[in-house]
Amino acid sequence: MTTGTQTPITSVSEIAPQRIVPVLTIKSLDHVDAIAAAVIKSGIRNIEVTLRTDVSLEALKKFASYSELVVGVGSVKNKVDLSRAVDAGAVFAVSPGYMQEIGKLARELNVFYLPGVATPTEIMCAYSDGFEVLKFFPAEQLGGISTLNALAPVFPKVRFIPTGGINGKNVNDYLAKAYIAAVGGSWMFGGDLDLSNTSAVEKAVLKAVEEVSPVKHLEE
Ligand code: 3PG
Repeated sequence: MTTGTQTPITSVSEIAPQRIVPVLTIKSLDHVDAIAAAVIKSGIRNIEVTLRTDVSLEALKKFASYSELVVGVGSVKNKVDLSRAVDAGAVFAVSPGYMQEIGKLARELNVFYLPGVATPTEIMCAYSDGFEVLKFFPAEQLGGISTLNALAPVFPKVRFIPTGGINGKNVNDYLAKAYIAAVGGSWMFGGDLDLSNTSAVEKAVLKAVEEVSPVKHLEE
């Protein structure tokens, strides 16, 4: 097991200056170059590659070879997932839920870790282990902003990254909230987008960035 070779990430602003974390579930390594070029051109800078397909780790490695990109791993469900992804070049990691042993390993590996939470109990567990920026997943299905409006005042130091059901229509409603550090989602890669077509992918990713209004509440 090796630790990430890039400078360790310590804040969300280093991952997501545009406050968007593009979540990619990749089915073919042939799509990596077009997606990397589009994400870099858009200024988004980061990409979260989920561990959901046979080519995920290989794709993560390819993305990590682009020095302009901050590459993270998503769908981390155990310690093996995390250590393999770090070996492949991930410098941040995201889980759908929270397990203390994964959080501990992330610290040992110097990987910026975003635990996933869906309930007050899970927020309490992750927060008491020192994690203040948490993925709220699946955001829309859990009640979206109305649920977060109820949770946020109870946990004033927590910043959320809602993910799940975010799209061009609701993204700015989330980003307008002071308790939101960034949003995650796959909407820019969705629909019938041909992921091997560089200019089509560039257009889709740039559109996602343009749709985001420049309200700044970025956690530092
Ligand atoms: C995730 O893994 O974070 C979500 O599956 C992304 O959700 P979305 O596809 O609805 O954006």
